[in-house]
Amino acid sequence: MSRHTADVNVLVTAGPTREPIDPVRFLTNRSSGKMGYELAAAFARAGHRVLLVSGPTSLDIPDHVDFIPVESAADMQQAVGQHLQRMDVAVFAAAVADYTPANVADQKIKKTGDTLTLELVKTPDILGSARSQFGFAGTLVGFAAETEHLEQHARTKLERKGCDLIIANDVSKPGIGFDSDRNEVLLVYPDASEPMPEASKHDLAHQLVQAILELHLSKAAGGG
Ligand code: C5P
Repeated sequence: MSRHTADVNVLVTAGPTREPIDPVRFLTNRSSGKMGYELAAAFARAGHRVLLVSGPTSLDIPDHVDFIPVESAADMQQAVGQHLQRMDVAVFAAAVADYTPANVADQKIKKTGDTLTLELVKTPDILGSARSQFGFAGTLVGFAAETEHLEQHARTKLERKGCDLIIANDVSKPGIGFDSDRNEVLLVYPDASEPMPEASKHDLAHQLVQAILELHLSKAAGGG
């Protein structure tokens, strides 16, 4: 197996988050976690040390990967904050909920009225905190799931969150992306973009790991 770089420490976030409403209910999304798990597995196969921080999924934990299970966006933020400092590369593939209930009911909410209004508040932007709050100086990779203006939205995200790379996918295309085994992405760098054609998430993860390690090497050599 060829290695691009000396072993690096990689953090990967994956899966959806679960935002509690009461002891038996939560808000979540359709993320399967597949892309993040495939990336974690591909980094580990390439000989790197991987920490996977994951929301609830039905997937097996990849071999040779350290694993921290989390539920809510707040839990994920805490786990990432605790480990990010010692990482060389961080890849944020989790589909973090954007909003969470303002209050979690202590007891199961009863169906007393015909309508029920939930007040939601913004979750922490974990990727957005990497540079600004956690002082992460390594290679930072985010994902962008968009339904239009893919490159433009991804580029705005790249700049706003201080990323070195955004892996963008068009979630309006049927059969790829969210909850699918296949994906097709556009790699958006500060000064270039590069399409990666449709492939299984397994094969794509291998190619993405090569691209991320090359980026990390060039950044470490002062080129990025
Ligand atoms: O802003 P948006 O949610 O589209 O950004 C997507 C990227 O940001 C993904 O890499 C996702 O993992 C990350 N993210 C995060 N914390 C959030 C929201 C998104 O880490 N609260």
